[in-house]
Amino acid sequence: MKISKVVFPVGGLGKRFFPITGAIPKEMLGIIDKPLIHYAFEEAVAAGIEEFIFVTRHGKDSIEDYFDYMFSHSEYFNIKMGSVCYVRQNEPLGLGHAVLCAKNLIGNEPFAVMSADDFISHDKSCIGEMIKFYDGSNMAASMNVPRQDVSKYGILDVDCETDRLVVAKSVDEKPSVESAKSTHAIVGRYLLSNEIFDVLSRLKPGAGGEIQLTDALLEMIPSHGLVGFKFEGKRFDCGSKEGLLSAILHVAHKSENLRHVVENFYKGES
Ligand code: UTP
Repeated sequence: MKISKVVFPVGGLGKRFFPITGAIPKEMLGIIDKPLIHYAFEEAVAAGIEEFIFVTRHGKDSIEDYFDYMFSHSEYFNIKMGSVCYVRQNEPLGLGHAVLCAKNLIGNEPFAVMSADDFISHDKSCIGEMIKFYDGSNMAASMNVPRQDVSKYGILDVDCETDRLVVAKSVDEKPSVESAKSTHAIVGRYLLSNEIFDVLSRLKPGAGGEIQLTDALLEMIPSHGLVGFKFEGKRFDCGSKEGLLSAILHVAHKSENLRHVVENFYKGES
């Protein structure tokens, strides 16, 4: 099934990175020489996505400036400016609310959502692989996490699974370690039916007082199902300091030009 539009929700406060996120959007934090949002954008382009919608807010203008610059340098992205648009989220009311802000730009078709702070390192595009498996059921990237970490994620209650897919009968946002039904966690890549907008517009705040995308996915299971996609590659939670630092070391170590810096550091030579 063709997916031509992606929503990048970039309206979050990034509290875990205060004070730097007081002036710099979390999505503009860098892995070496490119900001997180650039990696997510590249992953979408590699998947054949043609329209890019950023849900942004006050203080995030550097994301727009960055892409203006990138589009004027075709060696980075051979993409027309008109295929990119920005919509504002006036208050950071949660990921579900951010997605709802893109409603009028999506129309009557399924679409992708990508959180730039989930950096996924692999030679194939994670969202591109998901599109190959997409059959119209709502889909989210999924990975196994240690049980003590379940309360950081949306956790699937598994009905059945294959090599690549987990069919969920339920999903719970940030459950306690004791109540989690599995260790299959959702991370920030989604393929969604446009019917999710009706559900999101009626939702009450959930975990953390935010409008949760997970709660909309749960409500839609009877009509649209919910499938976890077991993606390949290494995922880094770059919304956390530990995750961003690990991602920087990972990318540096993969680079022929920078590997020696990481190795020398561990040998105590730098
Ligand atoms: P997070 O759950 O990591 O929240 O958002 P956050 O506010 O960015 O970070 P912390 O927890 O305060 O440190 C996941 C994704 O959803 C976006 C974020 O920008 C990030 O890409 N988001 C979150 C929004 O666009 N709007 C929101 O209201 C909340």
